[in-house]
Amino acid sequence: MSSPSRKIRTSTLSELKKSGTSFACLTSYDFLTAQIFDEAGIEVILVGDSAGNTVLGHENTLEVSLDEMVSFGKAVATAAKQSLVVIDMPFGSYEISAEQATQSAIKLMKESGAGAIKLEGGSNRVEQIKAIVSAGIPVMGHLGFTPQSVHALGGFKVQGRGESGAELIHEASALQEAGVFAIVLEMVPANLAQTITATLRVPTIGIGAGNATDGQILVWQDFAGLSTGSRKFVKQYANLRKELSQAAVSFRSDVQARAFPGPENSFED
Ligand code: KIV
Repeated sequence: MSSPSRKIRTSTLSELKKSGTSFACLTSYDFLTAQIFDEAGIEVILVGDSAGNTVLGHENTLEVSLDEMVSFGKAVATAAKQSLVVIDMPFGSYEISAEQATQSAIKLMKESGAGAIKLEGGSNRVEQIKAIVSAGIPVMGHLGFTPQSVHALGGFKVQGRGESGAELIHEASALQEAGVFAIVLEMVPANLAQTITATLRVPTIGIGAGNATDGQILVWQDFAGLSTGSRKFVKQYANLRKELSQAAVSFRSDVQARAFPGPENSFED
């Protein structure tokens, strides 16, 4: 187990980029997984609004509320001693104005204890990013496939192929100029992600964006094999679904056979 020896800050990620050291990020929405990932040395824990899918069972991320994000974020921030905790701004909490965005970001930071926020979008979010950054809150950007725009994008599709790649490079620069400390690139061609990474001063974090980005992120239930379905860009590092299912079947059969609880699990008079 490798553990970072110090608290990870936004400046640490920029030092890692400068030194060419790639860093790892995972999502988490609860105390125990956040504790495990923190102890494992994962540099960034994202309290993603993917909680809508993975925790709440929704079809997409759109229904997740600010208060739900605060609850998930509080659990994660309580557990994380070294990892940088970044929390997603949910759909509907920042699009209307810079003022709305700043109010939502302040609530998330105050009530969850996270160290930074993340929001989706490009040059259409520059005013919001500038306002949040000027309130003293670090902002992570998110480009490429942005799940909160799943309907506008016509489904889960790779973004930035062909001529639209130049547009994505422009959007990434706009986010950097607005003051983000890092940018997630989701489902973009590997060569485009490499170009964006080489162009920017701030670190890029890839998910389905090849191996040239400065960091990599996965949704924890995907990397641990708890989710159903498979995605090309996910590598499964465990098979928790199988393990948990086998454990539940064994527990049930022990209960039926009155093999559990045994004397070692029972209290004497
Ligand atoms: O919500 C989330 O989990 C994310 C990651 C996919 C980057 O935004």
